[in-house]
Order: sequence, then C-alpha cells, then structure tokens
Amino acid sequence: MNNSKNNHEASTVPPLGGGGGVIFDVYPLNNITITKAQGSYVWDDNGAQYLDMYGGHAVISIGHTHPHWVKRIEEQLRKIAFYSNSVHIPVQKELADKLGKISGKEDYQLFLVNSGAEANENALKLASFHNGKKKIVAFEKAFHGRTSLAVAATDNPKIVAPVNETDNVDFLPFNDEAALKTYFQTKGKDVAAVIIEGIQGVGGINVATESFLQLIRRLCDQHGAVYIADSVQCGYGRSGKFFSHDYAGVNADIYTMAKGMGNGFPIGGILIAPHIKAKHGMLGTTFGGNHLACAAALAVLEVIEEEKLIDVAKQRGQYLFNRLKAIDGIENVRGRGMMIGFDVPEDIKDLRKKLLNDHFIFTGEAKPNVIRLLPAMNITRKQVDEFLDTMKEAIAEMKKPPTPEGEKEKVAIENA
Ligand SMILES: Cc1ncc(COP(=O)(O)O)c(C=O)c1O
Repeated sequence: MNNSKNNHEASTVPPLGGGGGVIFDVYPLNNITITKAQGSYVWDDNGAQYLDMYGGHAVISIGHTHPHWVKRIEEQLRKIAFYSNSVHIPVQKELADKLGKISGKEDYQLFLVNSGAEANENALKLASFHNGKKKIVAFEKAFHGRTSLAVAATDNPKIVAPVNETDNVDFLPFNDEAALKTYFQTKGKDVAAVIIEGIQGVGGINVATESFLQLIRRLCDQHGAVYIADSVQCGYGRSGKFFSHDYAGVNADIYTMAKGMGNGFPIGGILIAPHIKAKHGMLGTTFGGNHLACAAALAVLEVIEEEKLIDVAKQRGQYLFNRLKAIDGIENVRGRGMMIGFDVPEDIKDLRKKLLNDHFIFTGEAKPNVIRLLPAMNITRKQVDEFLDTMKEAIAEMKKPPTPEGEKEKVAIENA
C-alpha cells in the first residue's frame, strides 16, 4: 500500500496525453485515477489502496473483478459477444430462468435493456400501452433516471429540460398514505402507473414503509393502474431480499433493474407480470440482451447463489447498521442490508471528504448532508470493521479542538 494524505478535491476533467480529445465536462471529478480493483478494494495510479464502501454508485454487487464473473465474460467473448434481437439468444433465456428462480418471480417475463433509466422508461411506456392511461404517480425525492419520462418522474427540476416537462406526472409525498388515498379518489381512473423505489437511493436512503407499498398494491388493483417497483438501486439482493419491495409481501406488476445486475457490465432489465401481454414491436432495443451482457448478468446471479449473498447482505448489513447506530456524532442511521444512510451534522460536515482524502475510503453522498453506504454484498466483516474503526477515528479527529501544529499542517496540505 502506498497511502499518504491526499487532496482529492473535485476538479475539472484533466487533459490526457496532450491530444485533442475533450470530454464533455458534466461530472465534478475527484482527482483520482483508479487503475485496478478487486473485491472491495480499488487502487489508484500511484498504488494507493482505497476501501470501496460505495460500489461505484451501487453497481458493484459481487465485488470488483470477481473471478467467476471475469471467467464467464471471457468465455462468452471467445464464442460471440453480440448479435441482434432478430435471432434466438439462448443465454437470454438462461438469464430469464435463473432470474425468475432467484427472485421468486418465476412466471414473470424479462425484457432486457442497458441502463436504469432505460428500464424505467420502458416500464412506464409499457404500463401506458397496457392500460391506455396517461398519469404517472411518482414521489418526492424520487430518482428514476435521465431519459424523457424517467426524468419527468424524477423529483429534481434541475435535470428536467424544458422538452421533458409534462403534466402527466404528479408527485406525492413519500410514505404519506392519506395523500395517496385522496389522490386516487379524484384521479384514480387516469393513473397508468405508480412508480416507487423500495428504498430511495439518490433521495437519501429513505425506506418505503411496508404499509405504504401494500396500499399502492391495493389502489393499483382497484383502479387498473400498474405498480412499478424501481429496483435499480435497491434491488438485486442488496436490501437483504432480492427486491426490497418483497419486505412488504406484495408483488409489483413490473420490477426495473440495472446497477448490480451486471456488477459493472452495463445491463438493465424489466421483469413483467404475466397478465401484461407482449405484442411484437411494442418495445425494442439494439444492444439490450446481447450475449456478453447476459453472460455477465448470469455470472452475478451464480455468485449470488453460490455465496448466499442475499443472506450475507442481510446479516452483515445488520451488523454494520447496529454498529453505526452506536457511533456518537452521526445521526438517523437508516436503510436495509447493504444500503445504509446516515445524516452528518454540521460540525463534521466534511466527514465524507475526510474519509476519502485522509483515510482512502470511498462513500456516497445524498444532498444536503447524507452519507450513503452501498458496498459490494460480499464485503468482508474485517473490511466492515476497518471502515467503522476508521470512521470513529475520523470523527474524533474532526471534533478535536484545533492545535497550532494541526492548523499549520492543514495550511501546508491546502497549499501543496
Ligand atoms: C433508483 C434509480 N433508478 C434509476 C436510475 C438510473 O439508472 P442509470 O443511471 O443506469 O440510467 C438510478 C441511478 O442512480 C437509480 O438510483
């Protein structure tokens, strides 16, 4: 390991190699170049090792470069990587079978895409095709993606372009049963779909209550609306159940998936209840369901099964949760399994930066003051302990009154 304090402050895209290639600068970058990854560790180009408590945006489900995943992709690559959806693709069928078995939704139909936004876009469109209605109910703080309807159902006006604005989406307060009932009393007949994350991710790790999800199920049944369970972030075992919506004991009509599905290989999908019927041409994609992506997704499911990762996520997540609760200085620990968030009070508001710069630990954030933990489901107990001990240390350092030497060191680092 070659770790020393660093300043990873956000920067603009650095010039690479003096060539003319310019990246469209939409991401505030940490000043880090990751060149290697394994399990829950990644390494930068200076050889420094980082603990990944963020899974690169909740994407790493079975650990970086898992050997089985690498092997499966390599083997597939040598046979065939891609052919279009105009021929039989047996590996798609294999994926549908395995997904049905592990998720417990064996009679559901699978449509494959490439990302979370695309999964939600297709789910919303399919709902409207199915019942011929137009209104979408979404919830405050929801994030469903950046394509046209998915972004319109996302509660963040800053990322909605004028062309994406629509009267077809109504936002209601999250977990507010009375508001949902009142809405359905007046507008229920027009509702095509209710879309909800079982645990809001970007919104700050807010868990949908079981009774709220049960109410959605009942109201959708009564009014012929489609219940869409956005499981892009909270799905695929991360919550300690295959879909976090399963905690409520209800079946959604459509589950959307991406992120952990390919462990970094781009793939998304929607699982569709049997009563929603397919028609040729109603949905389609060039890349969705390609051989290579299916092999990656199958490898993920095989590892989940082999290593019993849903149980591991539940138990180890509970351990992480309980120990976080006992840490002085952070507030409102919440979440399920390996999807946990907590509030960072004002006096230690730079905790996330400190964890990265001084302690080489990646965590996620949600505005304004939430740290999100979304590690690989097979993060080891030792790594969880390493994170907890380091975080306690970091908080203690931040709460310590500044000494003249410490101040000098801080200025030196800032000026370096
Ligand atoms: C719950 C949820 N839905 C949809 C998306 C969009 O996924 P993607 O970025 O793959 O389009 C995200 C991404 O963060 C998400 O968290």
